[in-house]
Order: sequence, then C-alpha cells, then structure tokens
Amino acid sequence: MSCITSRIDSVALIGAGTMGREIAWACARSGVDVRLFDVKPDVAADALTTVSRWLSDDGHPDSIQHLRRFDDLCEALAEVDLAFECVPEDLPLKRKVHAQISKVLPESALQGSNSSVLTPSEIADGLPGGAKFFCMNFTHIRSGERLAEYMGGPRSDPAIARIASEWALRIGMTPIVLEREILGYVQNRIWRAIKKEALYLAASGYASIEDIDRGFVLSWGVSEGPFRIMDKVGLDTVLRIEHEYFRRSGNDDDRPPAMLEDLVAEGKLGVQSGEGFYCYDNDVAPRQAK
Ligand SMILES: NC(=O)c1ccc[n+]([C@@H]2O[C@H](COP(=O)([O-])OP(=O)(O)OC[C@H]3O[C@@H](n4cnc5c(N)ncnc54)[C@H](O)[C@@H]3O)[C@@H](O)[C@H]2O)c1
Repeated sequence: MSCITSRIDSVALIGAGTMGREIAWACARSGVDVRLFDVKPDVAADALTTVSRWLSDDGHPDSIQHLRRFDDLCEALAEVDLAFECVPEDLPLKRKVHAQISKVLPESALQGSNSSVLTPSEIADGLPGGAKFFCMNFTHIRSGERLAEYMGGPRSDPAIARIASEWALRIGMTPIVLEREILGYVQNRIWRAIKKEALYLAASGYASIEDIDRGFVLSWGVSEGPFRIMDKVGLDTVLRIEHEYFRRSGNDDDRPPAMLEDLVAEGKLGVQSGEGFYCYDNDVAPRQAK
C-alpha cells in the first residue's frame, strides 16, 4: 500500500457526540485539523461550540482555528488523512456509515472506528480499502484518561498500527497495540467484567450503588467507582454494549439488568442528561440520585 498517508494532520470525525467531541478537542489542541460531521447538523453545531469553549477555557484559544464543521459528508471527507467514526455502538449502523465513507474518502486516507467492542473484521467486512481500516478505542481524554487501544484486523496493513499510534501520541494519548483482534479489546473486557459484576450486585440488592463505588475507590486507589464511570460513559452506550455481549453469548447471565434498561427507557443517561445512577448539578459534581 504505497499510496497511504504516512502521518495524520487532518481528521474528519464522523459522529459529534460524547467521544467525537473529546477526540476533536484533543486533536485541535495538538494542531491536528478537525472536520466535524454529524447526521444531525444541530449536534455538529453544538459540538463546535462546546469544543471551542473547552479549548478557550483550557488556555488554547488559538487552536479553535483547527476546528470546522460540515453538514455534508463528502465535504467533510475531502482532503483528510483520516476518517474516524464515532457513531453509536451498533454494528449495522457502523457498517453502513463506513460503506458511505469509503465511497468518497481520498485514496490515501485511513479509515478508523472508535468502537468499544466490535472488531475490524466485523465492521469492515467486504469494505473496499479494508487494508486501511483500523479500530482505536479512546478513553475519556478530557478527564485525563490517556489510553488508546489499537486493534487491527487480519486485513489491516501492518503499517497502519504505527501511523495510528503516532497520531494517538501526538494528541496526548498512550497507545497500546493488540496483537490480534478480539471482541471488546483488552481493557474494555476487564472493565466489562467489573461493570457486569457491579450491576449484578446492585440490581440484586446486595449493596448500594454508593457503597459499591466507595468500596471500589478505596480498594483500588482510583478516583471513581464503576457506577460513576458508567454515568460518564453514557448509560445508553453501556446498555448497547451489554446487549452486544448478550446477543453473542445468549447466556442469561449476560442479560443487562432491568435497572439499567429502566434508566435508559426513562432517559436517565448519566452525566449527559443530568441524571443516571447519580444526579448531576453540572458535569463534575455528582449527588445521589433519588
Ligand atoms: N462514551 C464513551 O465513554 C465511549 C468511550 C470509548 C468508546 N466509545 C465508543 O465511541 C462510539 C461513539 O460513542 P459516543 O458515546 O460518542 O456516542 P454518542 O451517542 O454520544 O454520539 C454518537 C453521535 O453519532 C451521531 N450519528 C448517528 N448516526 C450517524 C451517522 N449515520 N452519521 C454521522 N453521525 C451519526 C449521533 O447523532 C451522535 O451525535 C461508540 O462506538 C462507543 O462505543 C464510547
């Protein structure tokens, strides 16, 4: 693959929700040009405003010049080095979006996904240009979490791991490269085991959400427990991922608890909606949900 870019200087972020915004912020403040696109133009507009405010508040007002938003996917993808997809964790949706992207993406540009569990083989199955495809799962950059897990598929060109890792390093992340693909990456599988057990214990009435979180923080020397983290991730995203594991295994043991289903059905999605397992007066101060 001689024609692919050797360095990521411009990124189209497809999906301007929770993660699209965080990655946009990290890119812009590191001098990487960002082109924001969302299927909902008002969401893309809001993302542009929010990320600009973050950059300004963080003392990087000059970096706002690296941000642009587009209402048209083709225009967003013109002349970029990477199209990085951040749409919800839904395999048919991701496959559809990547098929659209690959039709208009410059030949030299890479194509990536921020998927939390899905493998490159699944998302890019049958995709022309699948050798340029990779997954990279970003943690919450603005909270200071700096991990980016790279996962290539059997079709991914080995050079992509280096290019994607250099991009991650440039925007302040620490990349780790999986040797081969697996559903859920490495850290998300470990996180999944914790989250599943925490949900089971609370949903079955063995301990309160607050005590589980408090105990976890004290035991592991970390700043947040699993319920606080799930609120930050977004309970709709958490539920989608749990459904994906359940869909694959069919084990009743993997079925998401009604407690989680109910919160999502009520629109209590965590920090983003102001209430989830906890209530939020603003995006940093949780108080106990009633
Ligand atoms: N939230 C997290 O903590 C987190 C962490 C790591 C990875 N991820 C993964 O990142 C991806 C995005 O998650 P998120 O939490 O940012 O989701 P989100 O729901 O906050 O944002 C998704 C955005 O995609 C947009 N969208 C939907 N369909 C689209 C389409 N066809 N074209 C363009 N935009 C479209 C939506 O309008 C929305 O704004 C998922 O795969 C998720 O699993 C999430």
